[in-house]
This record gives sequence, structure tokens and C-alpha cells, in this order.
Amino acid sequence: MTAAIAASPIVPQPLASAALLNLLIVGEDRALREMCREVASSLGYRGTSAESPEQALRMLDSQDTDLVLLDFKLHGLTGVQALRQIKGARHDVEVVVVTSNSSVDVAVEAMKAGAFDYLSKPFTHEELTVALERAAAHLRLKAENRLLREKLKSKQGFGNIIGRAPEMDKLYRIIAKAAHSMHPVLILGESGTGKEMVARAIHFSGPFRDKPFIPVDCGSLVPTLIESELFGHVKGAFTGAAQAKEGLLAIAEGGTVFLDEVGELPVDLQAKMLRALQEKEIRPVGSTKSVPINVRILAATNRDLQKAVVEGAFRRDLYFRLNVLSVRIPPLRERRQDIPLLATSVLERLSQENRCRYELSDDAMKSLMAYDWPGNVRELENCLQRCCALNSGRLIERLDLPTTITGAPEKFTSNLATEKRIVPLYELEKQAIENAIASLNGDKLMAAKLLGIGKTTLYRKLKEYGAEF
Ligand SMILES: Nc1ncnc2c1ncn2[C@@H]1O[C@H](COP(=O)(O)OP(=O)(O)O)[C@@H](O)[C@H]1O
Ligand SMILES: [Mg+2]
Repeated sequence: MTAAIAASPIVPQPLASAALLNLLIVGEDRALREMCREVASSLGYRGTSAESPEQALRMLDSQDTDLVLLDFKLHGLTGVQALRQIKGARHDVEVVVVTSNSSVDVAVEAMKAGAFDYLSKPFTHEELTVALERAAAHLRLKAENRLLREKLKSKQGFGNIIGRAPEMDKLYRIIAKAAHSMHPVLILGESGTGKEMVARAIHFSGPFRDKPFIPVDCGSLVPTLIESELFGHVKGAFTGAAQAKEGLLAIAEGGTVFLDEVGELPVDLQAKMLRALQEKEIRPVGSTKSVPINVRILAATNRDLQKAVVEGAFRRDLYFRLNVLSVRIPPLRERRQDIPLLATSVLERLSQENRCRYELSDDAMKSLMAYDWPGNVRELENCLQRCCALNSGRLIERLDLPTTITGAPEKFTSNLATEKRIVPLYELEKQAIENAIASLNGDKLMAAKLLGIGKTTLYRKLKEYGAEF
């Protein structure tokens, strides 16, 4: 994973990214320390300094340090010895060394001993700035990678994505990888599997999380509107275009546009979108001038796009452009062990919202786990929401769930009912009771409830039949 992330195009971070980084400047030359501190603080580093390696080691013990700027001109220790001691004490701290001559050998030795970078004296403010910025970008990436690894380890997912099933691991790995690139990602999955959630996770776990994330639902907008929404229009481009409007692809500058239900994009707009992706520029409706764009496209669909390509409903070239990286979200029925986690989290949220305690009985949970959930997590959320609305603040039992989930009570299929002869009522009744108990695996209480009689009546009748249940 690390290699993949390191290989992806990382744009240098703005200076503000160094805001939380701590720099320790080590060296005997006070004027040099002061100068470095000034430059570093103008970049947003918090700078402290030490006169000797011994003092530096004490400070490393007691304060947060991300980066050390180590002047190799020292009494006592050689620069490389000092570097080794610092790395030995805090291997996670990066060190930029300052060598006093331009000898390549010293620089090579320093790099071998674990320095991140080096500067040769004399150096300009600009050279120092570049070195500190590079270190800041590197440190920030390192922190992000650590975070991603931790998230993967805990299998808690990204953002609010819930799921510990092994099928979700692959998804998290791809999100981690995709987050650090600007490549398009095609997100596939049935309705309600969390495609938009995944798109948000990719955007908000990446280095451009401060830039806009703009979802566009290609399925719900009228075709003419999608065009002007995405590409913008000039004043008077069409009736009603009283003002010029910037397109979402331009507004999302530096961030992400999420094309939801991309399979619904009309064919002429597919061509326009392809051009936008290829040329990295768009032409607003009614304009003759193109506007450059810098935006990452995430697209999602629950349609079989490959099939749509074969059928000619979706452009092959656009499909390949969008499909640089693709991720499939498994439907809920392929990861049933996540149902309790999801259900509990939804109930917790609803409990908080409604200030009461909702819980699911074991039987109700079993029914949720047995159901196939064609509408996936969204259907599960809606189902629980309805149950909570109907059962204020108490245990949600199996019977409180919709019959589509628990399965309709077994139909009365006795031969007796279809026979021509007149059947005594008690026989029909006996058969109904026996059927109900058998189909509910012997659960007499539930049988009574479903048959619409009290439990004592049921027991009395069973006794009358001499039934052995
Ligand atoms: N893995 C998940 N963890 C938590 N909530 C989820 C998950 N997947 C989907 N959801 C929830 O289900 C609903 C539908 O998700 P959404 O991303 O809109 O699905 P899609 O775009 O695939 O139809 C949202 O309310 C979302 O919060
Ligand atoms: Mg959606």
C-alpha cells in the first residue's frame, strides 16, 4: 500500500500544511539558528533550538518534534554521530542536515545514516524554504499513511462506513489508495450499498479534503439542466438564462465532482464529459471559450455499465476513462455479519434523536439477518426508522418488523380446505393451530399472536386435541 501511495501524484502542500509541525534546530551557530527559526516560522513551523546534540536529545524526550534541522558543525561529536543518536532516540523524527562544505561524501554519508534531506552551506532563504516545504509535505503524508493503516487495522472503515466483514477489507484498501490520487474511480454497487458514502470517504480521506466535494445526480436532473449544471452557461445562452452561471466542474476546482448514477448520463453529454476529462477544460453552454478545470471525477452506478457499453447506451471510451480504478461494494446479503453492527448503529442514532432507548429482540435481529435486503443499507435504515416511529421507546420484537422481512404467516394450505366435503370448524381450527406452531418452529406464543387468540386459549385448545407440542 505504501508503495502505491508514494507513487501517486502528491501535490506539494500549501504552506499552511506545516502549521502543526514542530521543528528543532540544532547547532552551535546562534545566528544561523535564529535565521532558520525565522524562515521556518514564516512557513508555519513551531521552532525551538538547541546548542548541542546533548541538549537536543533532552528536548526530544520532553517535547513534540517532527523535524530536526541539524547543523553538522559541532564540537565533540561528528555530525553523522549526532544524527545517529537523534535517529536512535526518535526514529520517527525526520532530520535535514546542514553540511559545512559541499563535499558530496558527507551528504551521502548523512543520507545513509537516515537523514531525510541535506543543505550545503552557504544556502539561500529560498533553498531553506524549499527543503522545509518538502519535509512538511513528507511529514504530512507520513501522518496520513499512519492514519490509513490504523483505520484498516481497526476495520472500522472510513468516515462513517460501517463494516467488518472480510468483503469490506478490499473496499477499504481501494479507498485508501484512491484517496491519494487524482484518478477517476468508478464505484459500483446495488442501490443503498453506500456508493455516495464511499465517494465521500475517498474525497475526505485525501489531501484535497479541504476542497469542494460536489455530488451531481445524473439520474434526477433533466438532460438540459445537467449540461448547464456541469459545464455552466453564459448569460442569455437559453431562455431563462438571465445570468451567467459557473459549472459545477469549475466550482469544484481542486476537489471532487461525484457523478452519481452516471449510467443515466445522456449520450451527447457523455461525449462532452469525455472531452472535459481528456482535455481538462470545459466549454460553458453558449460560450465559444473553454475554461480549464482541475477536478477529480468519481462516478457511481448500480447499472451494469459494461452491458450498457455493449448495447451502445454508454460510450466505451468514457467508460474506460471513468474506470481507471473501480471498486465494488458488496450487497448486504453478501456480508450478513455486518447487519447487527449496522442495525445497532442506526438504533443508537435514532435513540439519541428521539431521546428514548430502542433495542432489538434476539428474534428480531435474527429476522434482520435472514432477510436479503434488496435495498441494502438504505432499506435497513428505513425499516428501523419505521419500527421506531411505531414503537416509541421499547423493545422492537420480531412481530414489529414488516412481514416482507419476517415472511408472511404461512398460508393455510390444508387439504381440508379444498375438499368438497363439509369440514367441521374445529378440524379447520386444529389444522390452523398445528400449521402455525410447526411453521414457527414450535413458538406457541408467536403462534397465538399470529392466529389472533390469547395464549391460554391456545393451550386450552391444544389440551383438547391432545396434541403433543
Ligand atoms: N457501510 C455503511 N455504513 C453505514 N451506513 C451506510 C453504509 N452503507 C450505506 N449506508 C447508509 O445507507 C444510506 C444509503 O447510502 P448511499 O451512499 O446513499 O447509497 P447508494 O448511493 O449506494 O444508493 C445512507 O443513509 C448511508 O448513510
Ligand atoms: Mg446514491
